[in-house]
Amino acid sequence: MTAGIDLGQPQAQAIRSDQDVVRVRQMVRTVAVAVKLSLVDQTKVVTAASELARNTLVYGGGGAVEVATVDNGRRKGLRIVFADSGPGIPDLDLALTDGYTTGGGLGLGLSGARRLVDEFEIETSAESGTRITVTKWSR
Ligand SMILES: Nc1ncnc2c1ncn2[C@@H]1O[C@H](COP(=O)(O)OP(=O)(O)OP(=O)(O)O)[C@@H](O)[C@H]1O
Ligand SMILES: [Mg+2]
Repeated sequence: MTAGIDLGQPQAQAIRSDQDVVRVRQMVRTVAVAVKLSLVDQTKVVTAASELARNTLVYGGGGAVEVATVDNGRRKGLRIVFADSGPGIPDLDLALTDGYTTGGGLGLGLSGARRLVDEFEIETSAESGTRITVTKWSR
């Protein structure tokens, strides 16, 4: 059992520092274990979450994450929402291209994260910032 964590409630975490990114990784790992993802899938979703949390911090100017369990009657999984009020992503196709970066990174965070999860959705605009929702299901 995961003491102290009510898996029925979504868990929220601010993303304002490197330490917060570490906390996001830990939160996601804990929930991934609780919904019985395989070790490989736990690592995939933690890696994706880590990249998206870092983008929220670096490009979004900080923001917040929410982690919730999901159940479609057949499988359990976890859903993670990253939200920031930053400048938005002007060209999504470009941003999702391997190697594209505006920050001197490797440009693999967004594209890599998309490949590591089962569902991946981005809503982004200059007015509202960026909201990325990812879902990983147990197999
Ligand atoms: N939350 C965000 N708000 C605004 N722009 C973003 C956001 N997330 C990503 N981007 C844009 O998309 C580009 C690609 O992101 P991606 O994570 O793939 O690469 P990176 O962060 O530059 O490098 P890497 O993650 O490999 O270190 C970023 O360089 C940035 O321009
Ligand atoms: Mg990145």
